[in-house]
Amino acid sequence: MNNIIDGTKISLKIRKQVKTLLKKENITPCLAVIQVGDNKASLVYIKNKKKACEDVGIRFEHIKFNDTISEDLVINEIKRLNNDISVNGILVQLPLPEGFDEGKIINQIDPLKDVDGLTYPNVGNLVLENDCLVPCTPLGVMELLKAYKINLATKNVCLVGRSNLVGKPLIQLLLKEDATLSICHSKSLDIKNYTTKADVLIVAAGHPNLITKNMVKEGAVVIDVGINKEGNLLCGDVDFKEVSKKASLITPVPGGVGPMTVSCLLKNVVKAYKLQN
Ligand code: GUN
Repeated sequence: MNNIIDGTKISLKIRKQVKTLLKKENITPCLAVIQVGDNKASLVYIKNKKKACEDVGIRFEHIKFNDTISEDLVINEIKRLNNDISVNGILVQLPLPEGFDEGKIINQIDPLKDVDGLTYPNVGNLVLENDCLVPCTPLGVMELLKAYKINLATKNVCLVGRSNLVGKPLIQLLLKEDATLSICHSKSLDIKNYTTKADVLIVAAGHPNLITKNMVKEGAVVIDVGINKEGNLLCGDVDFKEVSKKASLITPVPGGVGPMTVSCLLKNVVKAYKLQN
């Protein structure tokens, strides 16, 4: 039985849909990505985003600053992009170098162009279940669960991780689908007590092999959001080799949530375009 969730396949389907829509409506939205410094992982992520955008017909603007730039100059650039009607999405690639105030910088972005869904209005609207721009990785996780017809209303869901970018927005999206939730994090004393009760286990902790076979319920659906490097190889937060013997469905790394994040970013750029036009 094939129990591997094919994130690449589903993400390509979404990219095709976006491409078709842009062609049909004859529009070319634009995404601007601001990078500060030379974080190696960020370079790879930005390259992937650029390729995905250009493949579907979204214009991509990459604005790169040295880590010696001042916070004020980064903010000036965001203000310029806010005022540029040809730019529809603005994303500040995270993490920013040490010393930069991430919250202050991100909240300069016009909420209607905030394709990462990280500004205060978008965070608040997500909590209140108003339509808004929602962070891409949580959206990607929900799209995968939907594609595999997992009905969350009848499930115990355990989420490991509480980051602003993934864990916290996922809480809202899962609640909206009536999931019953337990949330674990780095200060939780006995993660296993919660993970073993989960019908759906979602892990976004950033620790390779955090989740081992003895921590997973037989037949669980396991979504691994982690992207870690071990030597030259990418791996998730879940011991895939062992846990895949026990899970009814499981995402691989790479090829699971990763490509979905990029596809949901494309959808968010189109959504931002429509909110502005
Ligand atoms: N760094 C890693 N993932 C992301 C993301 O989804 N958005 C931003 N802005 N930075 C990231």
